[in-house]
Amino acid sequence: MSDATIESVLHESRLFAPPEALAATARIGSMAAYQALADQAEADPDRFWGDQAREHLHWFEPFHTVLNWSDPPFARWFEGGTTNLSYNCLDRHLEGPRANKTALIWEGEPGDGGSYTYRELHSEVCKAANALKALGISKGDLVALYMPMVPEAAIAMLACARIGAPHSVVFGGFSAEALRDRLIDGAVKLVITADGGFRKDKAVALKPAVDQALAEGCPTVQQVLVVQRTKQPTAMEPGRDHWWHELVAGQSSDCPAEPMQSEDRLFVLYTSGSTGKPKGVVHTTAGYNLWAHLTFQWIFDIREDDIHWCTADVGWITGHSYIVYGPLSNGATTVMYEGAPRPAKPGAFWEVIEKHKVSIFYTAPTAIRAFMKNGREVPDQYNMSSLRILGTVGEPINPEAWMWYRDVIGGNRCPVVDTWWQTETGGVMISPLPGATPTKPGSATLPLPGIAADVVDIDGSSVGVDEGGYLAIRRPWPGMLRTVHGDPERFLSSYWQHIRPADGSYIYFAGDGARRDKDGYFWVMGRVDDVINVSGHRLGTMEIESALVSHPAVAEAAVVGRPDELKGEGIVAFVILQGDCHGDAELVKSLRQHVGVEIGPIARPDEIRFSDALPKTRSGKIMRRILRALAAGEKVSGDTSTLEDLSVLDKLRSEA
Ligand code: WTA
Repeated sequence: MSDATIESVLHESRLFAPPEALAATARIGSMAAYQALADQAEADPDRFWGDQAREHLHWFEPFHTVLNWSDPPFARWFEGGTTNLSYNCLDRHLEGPRANKTALIWEGEPGDGGSYTYRELHSEVCKAANALKALGISKGDLVALYMPMVPEAAIAMLACARIGAPHSVVFGGFSAEALRDRLIDGAVKLVITADGGFRKDKAVALKPAVDQALAEGCPTVQQVLVVQRTKQPTAMEPGRDHWWHELVAGQSSDCPAEPMQSEDRLFVLYTSGSTGKPKGVVHTTAGYNLWAHLTFQWIFDIREDDIHWCTADVGWITGHSYIVYGPLSNGATTVMYEGAPRPAKPGAFWEVIEKHKVSIFYTAPTAIRAFMKNGREVPDQYNMSSLRILGTVGEPINPEAWMWYRDVIGGNRCPVVDTWWQTETGGVMISPLPGATPTKPGSATLPLPGIAADVVDIDGSSVGVDEGGYLAIRRPWPGMLRTVHGDPERFLSSYWQHIRPADGSYIYFAGDGARRDKDGYFWVMGRVDDVINVSGHRLGTMEIESALVSHPAVAEAAVVGRPDELKGEGIVAFVILQGDCHGDAELVKSLRQHVGVEIGPIARPDEIRFSDALPKTRSGKIMRRILRALAAGEKVSGDTSTLEDLSVLDKLRSEA
């Protein structure tokens, strides 16, 4: 065993009890309390979820049915009820002292910023909602957001929810092409964007990508609403484009929240799968709201004076659930930061924690590994004594990074909650509860109450202790995705037909591999499908392959992930060129650039290997297992008898 492996095993076997002071006051302050809640949910799920929904959400009209599972796996939660997410995040906090409590703290990258009380945020959201109405947006119309991390992003999301117009937030790092695909797929009517945003001390333009996407044909998009952030010169098309500050400022701050049916669409969020183009994951009003609310409250044991900071981008589900909706639904103070740590400012994150006295900090393992590499000297210069809970999300965290996080950032005082979940699950599914669950570095520990998570084989039978299997969810939960936008068949095939129990029941397949240890703790191993996770960003290998193949020099391409110390996974592309093309450094550059244009810079391969053949089965399927081994520099093991042409292997090796 190498030193690193020994260290890892030692860390994994350590157990950290929740801090006593926290356990004494936490909502769920012991394993017995956790178990009691989990047992309650197991014994009578309808009653459990019904009680939670009544307690935590405001209802205009009460629901009559907790779960309608008569057409599985299409779930309908809280039927008969009407509610509104924007009301739950804003209006209900306006009576009493929370009205003047800070709802949102915004920190711009150049050092500007500001904050909004609940009353102020409510007023801004109402104005924005009225502006949307003035642009002809009404209930049911899909609105896309392509935004930097500015308060208007959260305001626009809440404004959409207020009038019942579902939003589709597209990560600002995606290219014009990727944006266009999402606008077309969703038949989007309005795009909300900004002139640009600040990233790594530069003003990065966003509006030109919208112009480009629309120029190439997005017939349903009629209007564009543009927030002025960077003040860089920005072309505006008269009649189509409107400045936010001109249109929103003059609106009335009175806009009652529209009572929405529980199952009305709340948002669509695109995410990568193993086949085809990204899919639009559909979440609906009441179930998503309840799950974002409950998970936020449980996992961060939120208190009235907490300052919560989640470093994600609003373009991802983590930003939706834990920058905007979970915190605001709970009446908490949430921090939104425009920037990222960068060479000129390696302590950027710690400065935000010190300045705003952040008490809950939620970030990604990739970020932690990058900080770790720079050493503890940087964070040690800041006073982070306000912190009380640390969270991680997005990818497996290695025990070393977990230990470093706990020690250097949390001063060995703060519990680390490693939260496993997905765009599709709406909120966290497996995570420690900071006042109850003893933690083990590298494990997401146990499912939250009401979540029937398991590790199973292809028939849906639970596998044994420490045996690998598919991470699966056996029962529906309120925050589950309802369908794939415009493609119910894909919803079925992607999530519900992979694991096939003999009794015909439906088990949700998450796409991840995992094992459970003797204590029932979950250890998530990563994706088992053709999805790679680069710095916590989910990318489909097929998407990157289609991007490569659309380059004139490429005949065929196969993309796989390989372990990467910092990013979790790196992208390796095996490329077969068209007859007369030559694979040189120039072409590598051009192919990487091309993928950046087609999808976005995050999808650019780390390495491109040219080859004249790919390992394929006799039926023509690319054997990715072999490519993965080659990409990782490992020996190709296992069965190669189905390989059509064994000599391909030698060629790939020698060319590597
Ligand atoms: C991975 C992000 C291990 C996993 C919230 C999942 C994790 C995918 C963890 C979802 C974790 C997320 N430990 N792996 N704590 N959290 N993942 O949809 O592979 O962007 O399937 O949602 O990230 O990514 P998504």
